[in-house]
Parts: sequence; C-alpha cells; structure tokens
Amino acid sequence: MSRTDPESRAVGALIRWYGREGHDLPWRRTRDRWAVLVSEVMLQSTQVSRVVPYYEAWMSRWPTAADLAAAPLGDVLAQWQGLGYPRRARNLHAAAAVIARDGWPPTDRLTDLPGVGAYTAAAVRCFADGEAVLPEDVNVRRVIARRFPGGWPGTPRGRGWDVGQALMDLGREVCSARAPRCDDGCPLRKGCPAADAGVVHEVTPRARRQGRYEGSLRQRRGTLLRALAEQGRAPVSADPEAAESLVDDGLAERRGRSLVPVASAAR
Ligand code: ADE
Repeated sequence: MSRTDPESRAVGALIRWYGREGHDLPWRRTRDRWAVLVSEVMLQSTQVSRVVPYYEAWMSRWPTAADLAAAPLGDVLAQWQGLGYPRRARNLHAAAAVIARDGWPPTDRLTDLPGVGAYTAAAVRCFADGEAVLPEDVNVRRVIARRFPGGWPGTPRGRGWDVGQALMDLGREVCSARAPRCDDGCPLRKGCPAADAGVVHEVTPRARRQGRYEGSLRQRRGTLLRALAEQGRAPVSADPEAAESLVDDGLAERRGRSLVPVASAAR
C-alpha cells in the first residue's frame, strides 16, 4: 500500500490529530515496560481519570518490578483498595515476582506472566517497545470496525506508539459508542464508510458484557474486602460464598470462623 492511498492518508490524519489533541497522561511519559504494564493492568477495567492518582501513587511507592515483588501482598492489596477487581493486584504482584526472579519473558511470551492476556501483551509491545502492534481494546476495535471495516491498513514505520495511543483517545472521546462526534473534528471522518452510510451507531463490536453489579458476587466480595480493610476481620458467616471466593483467589484467609486480610494471616 502506497503512502498516498486514502487509507494511509487517513492513518496520517489520525497521527496528526493525536499530536494536536492527544492527552498527556502519566504513563505516556515513559517507555518503561514495568510502568506500562502497571498502567495497562489498572486501565483494564477502570476509567482513565480514576486510574491517574492510583498509578502515580503506585509508581512512586514501587517504581520497579523488584520493588513490588519485595512488598507484602497485604500492602499491595491495600494500595489497590478502591480500584476494583483486586485480582488484578494479586496478579501484578505475582508477575513482579516472576520478572524480578527471571527477567522479562521473550516478547512473544509476555502472556506467560500472570494476569497478562493478549491485549495487555500487545499494549506492552506497543507502548513500551514501540512495536507496530495494535492493542485492541473495545475502543480501538470500535474505531477500526467503523472506519476500516476491511482491516487496519498498516502503521507507518516507527509510529506504532502514536497510532495505539491515538486510537485509544479517538475511540473514547470522538468515535464513542453512544455519542460519536463524527462532524466535530473526527480526523477519520473523510471516507468513513460507517459515517457515510449513516450507520455509525450500529457499528459497535460487542463489548465483553459485564453482568449486573448490584447484588453480584463481585459486589459482595467488594463489601467483604472493605470490611476486612476497615475492621481487620469479618465473620465468614456474613457471606460464606463471597468469603470462599476471596480465599480461593488468595485475597483473604480463614482464621477459625473469621476471615482476615492476607497480610495479617502472613504475619
Ligand atoms: N486505556 C488502555 N490503555 C490506555 C492508554 N495507554 N491510554 C489511555 N487509555 C488507555
């Protein structure tokens, strides 16, 4: 594909748009793999604005994988408190231990690290290593489905990082699921098949659906974890199913009829 064909010109317009409108976020000021991994794990199911203060506090406390690996799991979980899905913190701690002990796995084996799936591995390759690999989260997949239904036309040499970040910002803020702003400065508007056909809203890759939160096991686990953090223990009988699930995930431990945070169980 030549650099002057319409699809490649669209990619160029996207990169220039990012240069003007892209957000300055703390994890965009580094190319350190560990920092990128921490940010991506936090961003997996939490909004950007909520992640920023957690990321900054986390990286100043544990700037390297070795620092995190040396920290007690209880401290790690306490620092994560409030971000949700604490299994992510546990996985990050386990990944830190692997990296501190063995170094990073080969680039094509990043998914060997605990909690690192295909998306997160691609994000590390793109945002730390600058590879032209697209980290396809739901925002990125939506932009591509609408504007490039035939597939991504290719990334200009050396622009993998910009393209990845640009697609994230564009998908979140311009080419959004519910209120796409096609005629309000979208750099990909020209030649967009979905916009031209007036079907932008209909082209939305299915997000992995999140079940109802209210009353869910996830919510009850959260309630129990908060009680543990605040009171230091809770009776298992308060919610035996949630208690068992926290123990299974190594997020809490049983002591008699009580549940206690892992840190105090370890002491
Ligand atoms: N969501 C996932 N990764 C992101 C990134 N690098 N910047 C902004 N939002 C993101």
